[in-house]
Amino acid sequence: MYLGANSYSHDSSACLIGDDGKIIAAVEEERFTGKKHEVVFPVKSIKFCLEYAGITSQDLKGIAIAWHPREMLLKRIIREFMFEYPVPWKMFKNSLRKFWRSLFLKRDIEQYIGKLNPDVAVRYYKHHHAHVASAFYESGFDEAAFFTLDGRGEYDVGIWGKVDYKNGIEMIAHDHPLPLL
Ligand SMILES: [Fe+2]
Repeated sequence: MYLGANSYSHDSSACLIGDDGKIIAAVEEERFTGKKHEVVFPVKSIKFCLEYAGITSQDLKGIAIAWHPREMLLKRIIREFMFEYPVPWKMFKNSLRKFWRSLFLKRDIEQYIGKLNPDVAVRYYKHHHAHVASAFYESGFDEAAFFTLDGRGEYDVGIWGKVDYKNGIEMIAHDHPLPLL
């Protein structure tokens, strides 16, 4: 089974996916804390998902997060510093925090949840691609055109393209607020 964790950002949550790609459990941390759009490491959500499936952290084959640290660094943090100076400190701090903390996903799970199998796969996915995947793979379609819009992913505010089971996500174009280097 595979664990997805939306951490270090608003609406912290967790999701457990079976080996067949089907969702077993998914929940937002705010259901446990009572705080809307909770921003924490989703300890309670992860524990709930594992308990629901009757497994421990050591049974996980992979863990994933819907942020890509390299994209965050190259396409957001450096650009914010170069083109948007002076970026509001809170915004810049949040970007840095999200980048830095996402590097320690495995460590955080082991610290708060339990030991992981040494062979566990750790995957980082681009934010908009994660949005596409969450819609497409539960849609029942064999193929689809997609268009995402978000406040901001790592950097893009929107991507569009096509997706199918054979070729995965193929981005045709994207939009972003500042010039790419
Ligand atoms: Fe998003």
